[in-house]
Amino acid sequence: MRTWKHGRSRKSPSRSIPNWHRNCWTNSMRKKRRIKRGKPLFVFMREKDMLTVSAVDYDNNGYGVAKVDGFVVFVKGLMKGEEAEVQVVSSRRNYAYAKVRRLITFSDQRVTPKCPIASACGGCQIQHFSTLEQASFKQDIVDGLLKRVAKTDVQVQPILTMSNPWRYRNKVQVPIGKDKQGKMICGFYRAQTHDIIPFTDCFLQHTIQNDILAFILDFYNSRHLYPDTLRWVLLKRGIVTEEIMVVLITSDEGMLLKDELVKELLYTFPQIKSIIQNINRREDNVILGDEEIALTPATTITDKLGDCEFAISSKSFYQVNPIQAKVLYDKVIEFAQFKPTDTVMDLACGVGTIALYISKFVKQVIGVEVIPEAIEDAKQNAKRNQITNASWITGDAGEAARKLHDEGIGIDVIVVDPPRKGLNQPTIDAIVDISPRSIVYVSCDPGTLARDLAIFSEKGYQTEIVQPVDMFPQTVHVETVVLLAQKK
Ligand SMILES: C[S@@+](CC[C@H](N)C(=O)[O-])C[C@H]1O[C@@H](n2cnc3c(N)ncnc32)[C@H](O)[C@@H]1O
Repeated sequence: MRTWKHGRSRKSPSRSIPNWHRNCWTNSMRKKRRIKRGKPLFVFMREKDMLTVSAVDYDNNGYGVAKVDGFVVFVKGLMKGEEAEVQVVSSRRNYAYAKVRRLITFSDQRVTPKCPIASACGGCQIQHFSTLEQASFKQDIVDGLLKRVAKTDVQVQPILTMSNPWRYRNKVQVPIGKDKQGKMICGFYRAQTHDIIPFTDCFLQHTIQNDILAFILDFYNSRHLYPDTLRWVLLKRGIVTEEIMVVLITSDEGMLLKDELVKELLYTFPQIKSIIQNINRREDNVILGDEEIALTPATTITDKLGDCEFAISSKSFYQVNPIQAKVLYDKVIEFAQFKPTDTVMDLACGVGTIALYISKFVKQVIGVEVIPEAIEDAKQNAKRNQITNASWITGDAGEAARKLHDEGIGIDVIVVDPPRKGLNQPTIDAIVDISPRSIVYVSCDPGTLARDLAIFSEKGYQTEIVQPVDMFPQTVHVETVVLLAQKK
């Protein structure tokens, strides 16, 4: 059952046609065409229109998808199978976005979010999904993209979930601002805005990270002061070592009561091993700047993954969920079937985590990474773990792969773990020209993964195994590890 009521004065959409619609040439053309095709006349929706809809599916953002006379309506907060009265918030030619005004029926997979700001904050898009529904949502995303875009009929393995899907994040970065009373606040941005929603406890991060943020706020608010130059606070925590790094990101070198704050932080939280001031003078959305001032002798923290210990610096990438990172890396080993004679290339290696984790199974491993600081960490990490069969290249993955190919260096297996944008064409071309026995593709974006698998397939590498891993419970994100092998 579906009802439809325009938000303004009209009772029924068929009674009157708004002037803007009558006078609009394209809309009237569209209207005539719909009459000719025997389709309902009113297919557009306006902001504030009220509808009663049922969600038949989810989109990739976890919004419920409803269909109304060929119109697709994406509804934030509506679960598959639920019926609700919703209000249109924005509309385009053949789709609209709406928000729930009143739920009429409830999914048995709906749960009450732990976090009071879950629906406003942009961080946890699906905290209202049960664990089972989150798993099935992510499984369907990977499955759908692999079928539609990569055009593979490989059966996707059941997603590997976490037994405790809370407080798994080792990294948190929060913007700093002021509330209406001029008090310092930190929090997360409201979805698609730069409005800060303050929080006291984020259930994805460890309580000590929340305590440190509360301490910084209290340090200034209790003195009725506001550190104008402080833009963001970034915290990293080793989940095994429990060491903590605090990065104070400022718009210039100055920061109100910087030395006192550092002293009090170190005194109150002995787990803090390093404090860094990062200076970011840019106005865009990039969080970290290039300049850094060490405020403690140590500029890194360490953490352990399996048998390996890793140094992590402020700028280098380290998986945010190390518990699931271990699950992921074990899959890399299982899929690659390394031999003691293998030379392996780890493209986009970060601080060398995968390269070092797999090093004991192979003859040699070559890590490539574009961020010089991460390569410095990777070198230190190799030393720290007494690993001598790893070498490192600072630079672009594609360029490094091409150079190794041109030098005639034989590579048996390539592991790639690119950022969300996936691999570019020169990198794929270089990998294919190297002609490894297999490629293990680790991806945090199933869309770009599916696109790249389709290209690899055209170039002679077929998808053999697809394994989703839930690295980011409560959010719509999913990690996937894929084995590609040369077509026979
Ligand atoms: C998803 S992370 C993976 C890091 C590492 N494999 C791990 O598991 O910790 C992606 C890495 O790719 C690096 N990166 C981005 N663009 C690159 C490029 N063009 N060439 C090489 N590395 C790149 C980033 O700096 C980042 O460290």
